[in-house]
Amino acid sequence: MSTDKRSARVCVTNAKGGTGKTTIAINVAGALNERGRDVLFVDLDPQGNATEGLGLLDAYDKEPPTFFDVLTDHRQRDRVNELIVEHEEMDVLPSNIDLLQAEHELTIADLIARVKHDPETDIDPSALASLGINVTPEAISGAHALDVLDEALAGIEGEYDYVIIDSPPFYGKLTDTGIYASQHILVPALTEATSERAIELLIDQMAALEGQTGITVETMGVVANRVEKTNEDRMMLDWLNEVFDEFPVWEVRKRVALQRAFKDGKSIFATDETVDMADVFLDIAAAFDERFGFTSENEHEVTHD
Ligand SMILES: Nc1ncnc2c1ncn2[C@@H]1O[C@H](COP(=O)(O)OP(=O)(O)OP(=O)(O)O)[C@@H](O)[C@H]1O
Ligand SMILES: [Mg+2]
Repeated sequence: MSTDKRSARVCVTNAKGGTGKTTIAINVAGALNERGRDVLFVDLDPQGNATEGLGLLDAYDKEPPTFFDVLTDHRQRDRVNELIVEHEEMDVLPSNIDLLQAEHELTIADLIARVKHDPETDIDPSALASLGINVTPEAISGAHALDVLDEALAGIEGEYDYVIIDSPPFYGKLTDTGIYASQHILVPALTEATSERAIELLIDQMAALEGQTGITVETMGVVANRVEKTNEDRMMLDWLNEVFDEFPVWEVRKRVALQRAFKDGKSIFATDETVDMADVFLDIAAAFDERFGFTSENEHEVTHD
């Protein structure tokens, strides 16, 4: 396969915990695979739920080099290749327990970038670097240091049609690197009142990230998740459709089959069960294909593993 194309990248994000980021990300990746796309699934969450769910616990507990080193040490960035694990439906860049240190390290890197970029300050970048593990001021040149995942992915760009990134349940540097690398977000939200604040924070966070880095973040849509037939669900669906009136709002109902597939380490597309929600994930995958220019005409050109 050619190595000169850029993968379509989407970060599945919402700082609120338990909204279904991991479930949605795995099943969207499964649906894209079902449509014949080659997918790399990136687990950017230090909790490693997706990594563990996909049955890759060894990778999560692996000794260095790990995803942490690839993100925080520019000399090891191209070792990303060594970390990728093949899985039934997609390749996986697994999380690792060391990613728990990444927030601290990426914060220092970002501070160094700001200090180096600000002629007014006399803070010594190497003093900041001494607080970190891998970070080196010489390797940081821009106004921010949020491009580390973008750079790591650039090394494996040609091998995938899509990179789907599962992000942690908080807004910090790790999530920022995921959104920066993808510049497209898919937002899972529960249909309950607490989602309103989470969505408001998300909108603020995107504006802050765009302001800091100069990128434009495109919303692919919202996935109202674990939807049931209560008044609260209906009101929240109306609210989501109002706030995201220019974007698709897909509805995924509460289904034990989604939990079962996850426990079996796969998407619902790789199980024997027929799950009615499969159509929703296929709709999302079709919308992605349309947005990124994968037409049914070129479906036959995509090479399967
Ligand atoms: N549509 C659904 N129907 C039934 N259960 C669901 C559905 N979506 C998610 N779940 C379950 O809800 C729980 C939380 O989902 P998930 O782990 O995907 O959320 P998350 O946003 O990734 O969580 P975190 O913020 O911890 O990363 C899991 O037990 C998952 O199996
Ligand atoms: Mg998760």
